[in-house]
Amino acid sequence: MCGIFGYVGKKEAPAILIDGLKALEYRGYDSAGLYVAGAGLVKAVGQVKNLEAKLTPDFKGTVGIAHTRWATHGVPTEVNAHPHTDCEGKIYLAHNGIIENYGELKAELIGKGHKFASATDSEVVAHLLEDFVKAGSTFSEALTKTLAMIRGTYGLAIVNTSEPDRLYVARKGSPIVLGIGEGENFLASDPSAIVPHTKKVLYLNDGEWAILKTDSYQLFSLAGEEIKREPTVIEWSVEETKKGGYDHFMLKEIMEGDNVIKNSFRGRLLEDSLEIKLDELKEVEEKLKGIKRIIITSCGTALYSGMVGEYMLEEFAKIPVEIEYASEFRYRSPIVEAGTMVMAITQSGETADTLAAIREAKRQGALIVSIVNTVGSTIARESDAVIYNQIGPEIGVASTKAFISQVTIFSLLTLYLAKLRGVASDEETKKMIKEIVALPEKIKSILERREEIKEVATKYAGFTDFLFMGRKYTFPIAFEGALKLKEISYVHAEGYGAGEMKHGPIAMIDPNFPTVALCLSDSVYEKMISNVEEIKARSGKVLAIATVGNETLKTLADDIIYVPETVEFLESIIAVIPLQLFAYYIGIGKGYDVDKPRNLAKSVTVE
Ligand code: M6R
Repeated sequence: MCGIFGYVGKKEAPAILIDGLKALEYRGYDSAGLYVAGAGLVKAVGQVKNLEAKLTPDFKGTVGIAHTRWATHGVPTEVNAHPHTDCEGKIYLAHNGIIENYGELKAELIGKGHKFASATDSEVVAHLLEDFVKAGSTFSEALTKTLAMIRGTYGLAIVNTSEPDRLYVARKGSPIVLGIGEGENFLASDPSAIVPHTKKVLYLNDGEWAILKTDSYQLFSLAGEEIKREPTVIEWSVEETKKGGYDHFMLKEIMEGDNVIKNSFRGRLLEDSLEIKLDELKEVEEKLKGIKRIIITSCGTALYSGMVGEYMLEEFAKIPVEIEYASEFRYRSPIVEAGTMVMAITQSGETADTLAAIREAKRQGALIVSIVNTVGSTIARESDAVIYNQIGPEIGVASTKAFISQVTIFSLLTLYLAKLRGVASDEETKKMIKEIVALPEKIKSILERREEIKEVATKYAGFTDFLFMGRKYTFPIAFEGALKLKEISYVHAEGYGAGEMKHGPIAMIDPNFPTVALCLSDSVYEKMISNVEEIKARSGKVLAIATVGNETLKTLADDIIYVPETVEFLESIIAVIPLQLFAYYIGIGKGYDVDKPRNLAKSVTVE
């Protein structure tokens, strides 16, 4: 995820800005840049040290902004790296977030004669500011007018070269924190970069903007009214700030769940008109109309999200879908007929087997449409079209937030393809869209009860074997729940379709082999209850994941974790959160480093 840092004071800014960027490196990025008032603009692709190497001894100044970019619009190049500027190089800005209506704004500004240098959404902000200033607004007025025009999310740090003693900063949706020092002030997207300088911080709220000078700060509302607020003191260490105050990246990433869903559908789901808009598929739209079959191929957690996607696409978009382990697909002489679309699902975009699988599919002429989190990664580059997750890098080795984002994107893609193929009823699509919009709050309500899940995990921490079972949309969740537990707690766990129990696994059931049963109120609920009865009849222990209000399971299961109600189509997202937390708490209870489980790598770039 992009990082922003800014400094205004009496010391030399370049070195402080570079240190600020280094403190934000852990967030992941692909290019970096800085602007120092009076000295100029420097950018570099790759690591911050590449940027540092470009700074000459005469590059001096005491006010500046810096940015690490994690590409969302436009490939990682120097031109696309921040800060961006207006036509005349008078305004410089660094932006985190996504400007959803940048296309329309850019077209309008080009019509007025503005010249754009980059492919980013961010640059539009610099030109809008320029436009208002040229029309006679003060810079503050130009800023409030610009903020009123842009849709989407932003954390903005701006230098107006006509007022080189100050930084302008604004926030909506993307975090911005001010650091209040003695004769110097800071801004950053994340307090970990500020804590080495000062522990006095002031978090900007959504819809607020500020002016930061060497000895003062002023906060304003979007309406331009001044807001009085005192800084708070943070007690976190630098390491803790990187994890947002959580003990582990894995927990931080699980706890981001509600925002992950919002970011995944941001700009793609039009809440007013209840429509799905996937601009990234525009170029392949004609081909999509004619596809006869989809093959989804990936590995690990990404494969399980693909399994959910398979069910969604077949049920609602009425397209035949097959799910393939990439590691098998690449070697088993698959047949890819004309009219096949192959989808790679991947957080890293670099997984060796997934890459080999799409290369094989491409060789046979398939259209490749992928869901990728890492912009500019190899799989993204080799696909015909990419839907990016828009959720920032995942740092914990166990994939958590990527999974719920991948499934969210499958839900959008399903509704989009259903409409494109004329098989969607407007009423049903609108109902689904409303349910997608409601997901973040529902996820939040589960996350808020994490202590309850911790207690249940503590109760089950002594068992050495687990069975996870589900049906239909929770079938892949049984695999994913078992994988999470194996990965971070090194406990043996198996995921099974509940319908397969009688075909073998039920032989394993005894009081020492607990089952995690996914019994949500859906079309296969009665079947799941029968499976639970069968396990209880064999003295097996059952931890049920059930929909809130379910009374039946109280007399059947040993323990229950309740989740909010949603439509069956989306229940996998709701069901997986307690399993991620369950695995996390068992793992940390055993004292393991859940962020870096033994023998595992975040990106599996070799076979
Ligand atoms: O980067 P990718 O999404 O392609 O990675 C795929 C798998 O390696 C990954 O999901 C792996 O299974 C995770 N460790 C699961 O938590």
